Amino acid sequence: MVEFSLPPGSKVRPGRTYKAAADAARIKRFNVYRYDPDTGDNPRLDTFEIDLDACGPMVLDALLKIKDEVDTTLAFRRSCREGVCGSCAFNIDGTNTLACIKPIDEVPGDVKIYPLPHMAVVKDLVVDLSLAYAQYAAIKPWLQADSAAADGERCQSPEERAKLDGSWECVLCFCCQTSCPSYWWNEEKYLGPAILLQAYRWIADSRDEHTAERLDFLDDPFRLYRCHTIMNCTSTCPKDLNPGKAIAEIKKLQAQRR
Ligand code: SF4
Ligand code: SF4
Ligand code: FES
Repeated sequence: MVEFSLPPGSKVRPGRTYKAAADAARIKRFNVYRYDPDTGDNPRLDTFEIDLDACGPMVLDALLKIKDEVDTTLAFRRSCREGVCGSCAFNIDGTNTLACIKPIDEVPGDVKIYPLPHMAVVKDLVVDLSLAYAQYAAIKPWLQADSAAADGERCQSPEERAKLDGSWECVLCFCCQTSCPSYWWNEEKYLGPAILLQAYRWIADSRDEHTAERLDFLDDPFRLYRCHTIMNCTSTCPKDLNPGKAIAEIKKLQAQRR
């Protein structure tokens, strides 16, 4: 049998356990990935026992409680607490999702919280999104129109506006991006589902006049065609969007141009 060994320093070791108060009635255990590059130590999994009677209903509530009351050094991103900023994306119970809209009650047993997979970890649950944002910038995510707007406005019919539904709701959480095997293996060259969904959002916009240039940019064996329709992206999206379908629409438009 083939045996794989992890590079030194990458093995996740058992960490500390923080017990709940003795009078806590409804205890849930949260196993949280910890990594601090400044210490040179291996990553570890800390366990926090939380009394659910003294905690909000979402996984983010538990993380905030841990940070406020147990270990202030725990690092993670969050902002809106309403599923609209996209910053609290982690791998929770084996699935990439947003902690602020993930009910604790939906997780049977211990709640395991890891950073988004296949990304460099900056600290604890914070991953480095520099490449993903550079890829986002590369698709020019803004309206490009050279003609003058009639009466100062660029209007759309309700039907034209409806074509943007399913893409404008994306909160750029990168849950889909980091669940995609094609992106794991080709992150430098393949744009990934989050970025391609955003690319499609501008291609589908009737007011944009650079559709041909946008399609030219994507007409590349890696940037677009590394998607093999595995559909992990669509299964994991916490906003119930369908990046796999948007990618298929771009491929269809490319085929129609030929
Ligand atoms: S459908 Fe494409 S983008 Fe989505 S997970 Fe599969 S390969 Fe990745
Ligand atoms: S498509 Fe869904 S999973 Fe992907 S970045 Fe947008 S909101 Fe997040
Ligand atoms: S905190 Fe904004 S999406 Fe979760």
